[in-house]
Amino acid sequence: MEMDGFSRRDLLRGGVSLTALALFGATGGCEAIKEAIEKRPVRRDVTTAAAAADVATYRDAVTAMKALPPADSRNWNNQALIHQNFCPHGNWFFLPWHRAYLFYFERICREVTGQDDFALPYWNWQKDRAVPAQFWGAGNALFHSPRSASPASQAQDGWVGPQTMEDIFDLTNFEQFASYESSAPRGGTGGGYGSLEATPHNNIHGFVGGTMGTFMSPLDPVFWCHHNMIDCCWVEWNINRHNANINDSDWLSFTFTEFVNGDGSAQQISIAATVLMPLLSYRFETSPKGEEAVITKWNNKALRRFLEVGGNIPFTVRERFELARGVKVGLGRPASGTYRVSKQAMARATVSGEQGSRLLLQLADVTPPANDDAFVRVFVNKPDASAETSIRDPHYAGSFAFFQDDGGHDTSKGHRTPDFYVDITKTVRALRQAGEISEGDEIGVRLVAVPYGDRDTKFKAFSIGSLDLVTTPVAVKGS
Ligand code: C2O
Repeated sequence: MEMDGFSRRDLLRGGVSLTALALFGATGGCEAIKEAIEKRPVRRDVTTAAAAADVATYRDAVTAMKALPPADSRNWNNQALIHQNFCPHGNWFFLPWHRAYLFYFERICREVTGQDDFALPYWNWQKDRAVPAQFWGAGNALFHSPRSASPASQAQDGWVGPQTMEDIFDLTNFEQFASYESSAPRGGTGGGYGSLEATPHNNIHGFVGGTMGTFMSPLDPVFWCHHNMIDCCWVEWNINRHNANINDSDWLSFTFTEFVNGDGSAQQISIAATVLMPLLSYRFETSPKGEEAVITKWNNKALRRFLEVGGNIPFTVRERFELARGVKVGLGRPASGTYRVSKQAMARATVSGEQGSRLLLQLADVTPPANDDAFVRVFVNKPDASAETSIRDPHYAGSFAFFQDDGGHDTSKGHRTPDFYVDITKTVRALRQAGEISEGDEIGVRLVAVPYGDRDTKFKAFSIGSLDLVTTPVAVKGS
């Protein structure tokens, strides 16, 4: 591993300025930097024995942050307010913003406990479907009340199961995986929930419920471990599975200014820097130690290449088919839309590579429900689908959930409801193979609201201005 040209100043020239070494805490010569990278703290599964020391530190950190005076920006409540006031949702700022939020939070935890090698543990909800025991028990700093979930409540396969997660990891377009392009973190134009955000992310917020169902959710210590799992998923997709992020300079050079460091000082961090964080400053136990497969030389050029690599694969709409206008979905009141999709579009949906298309359901001009105690399942050509229909039914295509500030649809705070997208490609392909849909046949979708269960639901209904089927070219992996 070579260390040439790793200067403090010019990492990522051309619109992206980053004082890399200061940021990642490495000082000294090349060997020291290399060692610091290899020994970067390891974020572990919160339920494992290997994570016990970090769990204990996390408890101490929560206690210490709660005891800080209200004027201290690192105070527990002030940290949650950063989320309430700035968190981007339903757009491409979602992943980098929350990564930076955790990065600085981890540093605050180190500072207030004096444990310099602390790494934030994560809750692997794919494996542990209930909120883990580490977060329960009176007097436990990681317990938080209120939560709607009990220690026995189980997250469902359709949100976090192995097949659901594999389908998400199989997406090759960053926007489809993460969330869609927007002109601003809040209140901008564009946007839309990608699969990782709409399905596991939003559903876990709604499932845990209570404070976790609101934008003050970081008050619940499980929030940070949930988002660490989301970050772990991004690392899995981007680094372990070699899918390229967006390389749009509007995205990479965007700078967040709302975070505070371990000493409480205000920080500025570019999205480009967040993209490099899991290579330079922490890793997950599931990711490779040196990242040689990704970067063979730890120098500016190699890191720049990592940022620039072929990720310029914006989401574009190839064809649009109108399924329905002005529909309402309530509990026990599913909504449907139907369209005779062109032969060509249907043919393309079974081709892979750039000639192929993915078929996505797009829900635009959504007026969300007054609260988030239900999620939505999507079925293809299943006119009798209901909340009782199994997700193992071959017509099942996916699910999404809402996650919004208390008081829901408050545009005065810069919140706009982003579009929702559900990829139905795999289901349509399987139905074609089974001979249930032929080229030129109608495609009908049915949206079914399903309550989270084990609690009273106040969910009434949500409405969709336009329900369309759109096709988009397949982004070719790693190109
Ligand atoms: Cu900004 Cu999962 O929250």
